[in-house]
Amino acid sequence: MTEKITNDEFNYFPAISGNNQELQVLLRKTSELLCKWFSDTNERSPLPLDNKFKVTYPLKNGSNINNLLNEIEELLYSSFCPSHPGSLAHLDPPPLTISIIGDLIASGLNNNLLAEELSPSISKLENDICKWLSKKIGFNEGSGGITASGGTLNNLNALVTAKYSSGLTFNNESILIISEDAHVSFKKCAKILGVEDKNIYLVHTDKNGCMHIPSFIKLLNSLISNGREIFAVVATFGTTIRGALDPLDEIGNICKEKKIWFHIDASIGGIYFLVNKKFDNINNFNLSSANSITINPQKLIGIAKTSSLLLVSDINTLKNTFQTGLPYIDTPDDVINRGELGVQGSRPAEIIKLWLGLRLLGMEGIEKILNDSLLKKAIFIEKLDENKFEIHSGPLHIVSFLPKNMPVADSNSWTLKAKKLLLERKYMISRPFYKGKYYLRVVFGNFNTTALHISELTNFLNNLYA
Ligand SMILES: Cc1ncc(COP(=O)(O)O)c(C=O)c1O
Repeated sequence: MTEKITNDEFNYFPAISGNNQELQVLLRKTSELLCKWFSDTNERSPLPLDNKFKVTYPLKNGSNINNLLNEIEELLYSSFCPSHPGSLAHLDPPPLTISIIGDLIASGLNNNLLAEELSPSISKLENDICKWLSKKIGFNEGSGGITASGGTLNNLNALVTAKYSSGLTFNNESILIISEDAHVSFKKCAKILGVEDKNIYLVHTDKNGCMHIPSFIKLLNSLISNGREIFAVVATFGTTIRGALDPLDEIGNICKEKKIWFHIDASIGGIYFLVNKKFDNINNFNLSSANSITINPQKLIGIAKTSSLLLVSDINTLKNTFQTGLPYIDTPDDVINRGELGVQGSRPAEIIKLWLGLRLLGMEGIEKILNDSLLKKAIFIEKLDENKFEIHSGPLHIVSFLPKNMPVADSNSWTLKAKKLLLERKYMISRPFYKGKYYLRVVFGNFNTTALHISELTNFLNNLYA
């Protein structure tokens, strides 16, 4: 009989008999802390103005649990608070309550999506939910997908698959086509894949921030007539700075005709394809010409980070690309281990919080969140003085703007001042650098932001630019 590993007061691991009294107390105390942190949100700023958080390190002996609870409290109160109504800077909404529970359950289970025998039910859950989502967006029976820790990783999963499926894995001169407004993650992916900058072609965007189709066609024809091989074309469905949507139908049809892998980075906008309601100029595209699509539920419907999906029209493309065999796992012939469908090996059960979130909201709940976000954006645009500000916004819930008729250097310092003054008033907005200038950007994915907050924000901006 081994002695239990404990410190003075506490068992280190959940007990396997009895009623787990200690774990119950710990869960109660930490949830009290977390709930208190949520409940007094309005008394703070979305971002601590003065970050006093001090990192502590392991000592010779383990720490007392009450000290750890105090340290957890300090961490909470020196953290960014996405639930604050003034938190409007980024694509980081408040977490749905049930998705917090999802992460708790995932940690408690500590299963591993690497292999079916390490996560029998969760492997099934991920497989079936991804398949359901794939069909929902218009893919057919052979489709499916995986989750990965963030959109960057899923864009990587997609490009590795694209290169492999096109027979170009070892062709260093093969080309990636993206728009000039595509997300920076593609630069990272290209480095990992050994694609040099000269082999990444950026198609320029039109005045609305969408890929310019005549330029795309011209580029493609010239590359093809010069015998160049293209391993993927990427369209962005929701650009990061202005929420613009590339014309998916045109790009998709061209890729299909030329037999080029078509990836859609719909990290931001993909969630709109889940609902039946047709939103103006958003979810009326046909996605079935795509080979792969990244969708990040973490960005708009409140599934806690990370929650990102890669959906593919043919699940065999992932299997063929990533299957290595797992010599240390005993796998029946008819089973595909989900660690062999993407770059990640050991993987947490992120699917649980997505599954619970989707179940809790239902289609109407999702639709309401999407609707409200667009409504808030419309109120903001209506209230921001168009004589004073140049506004850039595609159909999604993101607005970038900057003062009109100001030299660039003045405008750059004005946006810096505005951002700082707004934070002092508990509004956190972002200041992206886009095409040679700083903009201010507001993202309306926060369920706690009301029309009153938006009025206060626009009044401040309109008055600041006297
Ligand atoms: C359009 C787009 N694609 C991809 C990403 C990368 O996603 P993640 O930060 O989850 O890796 C982002 C992040 O903001 C994005 O806006």
